[in-house]
Amino acid sequence: MLPDPGYPDYMSGIALADAKPHFFPLLEKNHFLPDYDAISDEALNLSKLMFLNYPNNPTSAVATREFFDETVNVAKKHNICVVHDFAYGAIGFDGKKPTSFLESERAKDVGIEMYTLSKTYNMAGWRVGFAVGNPSVIDSLNLIQDHLYVSLFGAVQEAAAEALLGNQSAVNELVETYETRRNALVRAAQSIGWDVTAPKGTFFAWFKVPDGYTSEEFADLLLNEAHVVVAPGKGFGETGEGYVRIGLLDEPERLEEAMERVGRLGVF
Ligand SMILES: Cc1ncc(COP(=O)(O)O)c(C=O)c1O
Repeated sequence: MLPDPGYPDYMSGIALADAKPHFFPLLEKNHFLPDYDAISDEALNLSKLMFLNYPNNPTSAVATREFFDETVNVAKKHNICVVHDFAYGAIGFDGKKPTSFLESERAKDVGIEMYTLSKTYNMAGWRVGFAVGNPSVIDSLNLIQDHLYVSLFGAVQEAAAEALLGNQSAVNELVETYETRRNALVRAAQSIGWDVTAPKGTFFAWFKVPDGYTSEEFADLLLNEAHVVVAPGKGFGETGEGYVRIGLLDEPERLEEAMERVGRLGVF
């Protein structure tokens, strides 16, 4: 079971396992959390594995403890293994620390949480991360990891230990950097008349496309006429249609300039 919209790489695992994907929609009216009551019992009973990811790429939504408690109950009832991708686990705004799936009681009975050092420590490309949780799932991961990768270069492991065990002030600075950019982007978008919701975490913003455009048409318009690159929501799944994803990956001034250029198109 996979979120739609969702991080496209989950599909690679599904393909390698020769499994069948079943997508569940993440809707704004549900704060981009799945509505388990809206998924058929048949689909839930057939499912072996469910991917979740909060703070969420691409919607930038965050999960609550109540939602994860409910997830544990659903997983137990239907015998589903939950894989919570906590890639943006450090990146929560407004003083709120993102909720870990493992905070829920008995979460370890039903699943694991995966973490990557690429976001929190800007170690993208180092290919280092870890998983925590259910022992039998960890054993399986260990087995496949052993055959696919054998091991990770020792220096990268040492660097990862240093990042995780050292002073975390750099992480706080990183989150502040993204939050400052988030604030600048949201303010600038609102000032051109774009009705947007502020991201609660991650380094993405998920903004609604104005009426009259598909997400691809709108992304093309911004690229060709305003020279601003955004990702069309449809690339993350059918339910991503109607949105674009913007990266908080440049200085506040550049994000403001991008919104000014979009504003000059006069579509809002
Ligand atoms: C939701 C999510 N999960 C996992 C990853 C994987 O991160 P990496 O391959 O850099 O460890 C990313 C990176 O973009 C992501 O957005």
